[in-house]
Amino acid sequence: MKINTLTSAAIKNKVVLIRVDFNVPLKAGKVLENTRIAESIPTFRFLLKNGAKQIHVLTHVGRPKEGPTPELSTKNLIPEFEKLLGEKVEYRADFTAGKGKIQLHENVRFYPGEKKSNPEFAKEILKGTGAEVFVNDGFGVSHRGDTSVVGFADHIPCVAGLLVSKEIEALSPFLSKKKIPGLMIVAGGLKLETKVPVLMHFAQTADHILLGGGVANNFAVAQGFNIGESFYQEEFVKDARRVLKIANQNKTGIHIPIDVICADDPESVNTVDLPLEDVVGSAKIFDIGLHTIASYIELLEHAKIIIWNGPLGLFEKDQFETGTKKILTFLSTHPSAKVILGGGDTLESLNKFGIPQKKFFHVSTGGGAMLEFLEGKELPGIEQLKAKNKTEKS
Ligand code: 3PG
Repeated sequence: MKINTLTSAAIKNKVVLIRVDFNVPLKAGKVLENTRIAESIPTFRFLLKNGAKQIHVLTHVGRPKEGPTPELSTKNLIPEFEKLLGEKVEYRADFTAGKGKIQLHENVRFYPGEKKSNPEFAKEILKGTGAEVFVNDGFGVSHRGDTSVVGFADHIPCVAGLLVSKEIEALSPFLSKKKIPGLMIVAGGLKLETKVPVLMHFAQTADHILLGGGVANNFAVAQGFNIGESFYQEEFVKDARRVLKIANQNKTGIHIPIDVICADDPESVNTVDLPLEDVVGSAKIFDIGLHTIASYIELLEHAKIIIWNGPLGLFEKDQFETGTKKILTFLSTHPSAKVILGGGDTLESLNKFGIPQKKFFHVSTGGGAMLEFLEGKELPGIEQLKAKNKTEKS
């Protein structure tokens, strides 16, 4: 994939506007998990080392519904950002330029113009900051057509930051529509709406798809199992059947748990490991069972590439963490496969289990963005980097 990348010539002596995805978990004004900030630091170092005149940073935090709230202010990010970068960062309550070398502006989603891809809002930001070049380093938000993601490309040159380039390079090999020998997918989590398209894609290209979490429950229902009162999404059962059909046509194995950890409710510590066919009545599935873990590991031993998206159970509760913990631990020590991780809860689960990210080939900063990229969708934030290329050549 050819895109405009960050070069010294593009930014030297220029006022740079950079969109990052610093949408990190916060509690009482403190950053709980800093990967998304840490992963953009090389881009900032590049900008500083290569003579950017001033750097204006844009990000969203959360999904503010009713305008500004202190909990979602970018002010909360400054101590962590300064610590990781080792430089002073100036907070700007609006989109005007201050005096600092690096200026972090307020949460773009506090402004109605952000979500409506509003040309006037883009112009206001450009005028206020005096930006001369735009760097997109927000891979995690590149699937959104928001103003701060796509609004500047018509006005100033637009290049990919180092994080965006790194994500594209790591994920692009898996876009192939043909079979990728040795590719296995591990998918869990709850929401089938975000998983169906990507599962359809991998049902054509992977050797095996191993399922857990709520996603597996839908496939269990699609295959005629009773899952007691476990969570599943009725409206997606037919999609699960379509995925099964495509997988069958392409000789891709779809695996659902053979046994599962059940309880009456998520708080209960009275758990039982049952064969899937024995789940009845009020039982609810909260994790994959021990036999499933063993069989999944046996299969994954033969993989050459593994893509992980989403936990295999309710790992936040200790009594339901085993499936996710054991499989992730195995993947972190896999002797030969390239392992790629992504998805909303992944960073959180790695943290909980104390598994270092560097044990994996690639840990994506994208949740929805990684999935949409892998299913071959055009991401607006990435497309503009290509479009600009064409304009420059013509
Ligand atoms: C994410 O958390 O996946 C990104 O920051 C995008 O956030 P959004 O889903 O609220 O657009």
